[in-house]
Amino acid sequence: MRRAVCPGSFDPVTNGHLDIIGRASRLFDEVIVGVLINQSKTGLFTIEERIEMLREVTARFGNVRVESFRGLLVDFCRAQEAAVLVKGLRAVSDFDYELQMAQMNLGLASVETLFMPTNPQYSFISSSLIKDVAKWGGDISAHVPELVHTALRQRLVPPAG
Ligand code: PNS
Repeated sequence: MRRAVCPGSFDPVTNGHLDIIGRASRLFDEVIVGVLINQSKTGLFTIEERIEMLREVTARFGNVRVESFRGLLVDFCRAQEAAVLVKGLRAVSDFDYELQMAQMNLGLASVETLFMPTNPQYSFISSSLIKDVAKWGGDISAHVPELVHTALRQRLVPPAG
């Protein structure tokens, strides 16, 4: 079975992530979305919340599974029996660090990385930017799935009264 991992923090999942996951799901028999548990960084959403949102918005693909992992990504790949990582590249600025990680992961465990150019309509989107804009009441509805939009509104804008 051809299996790939799409890793990330997904705090929260954006339409840019979804685009990459969906396109990867057409190239592989199974795609595993790996949500990093990073104990040194508190996110806006808990790991459970991120996973729940990811599961809902990827359910339509049929061959996508969502799991969390801690530690090295290559160990997660080995445990999932996946030899390939799929990563989105938004711009040249992503490339330097992504190349370093790809080469490290290749050297550590022969895990291959496939870079997928982000669809241009999502090339400026990141979870951090989405959170910042949403925090100040900006309209991010075009950049995240509806359920993420709702979750962001509830988390960032306290209800009146
Ligand atoms: O969405 P992010 O935060 O940009 O994703 C980064 C991620 C999860 C892909 C990266 O931090 C990672 O692979 N972390 C796991 C720890 C690890 O394997 N580090 C060595 C990478 S060469």
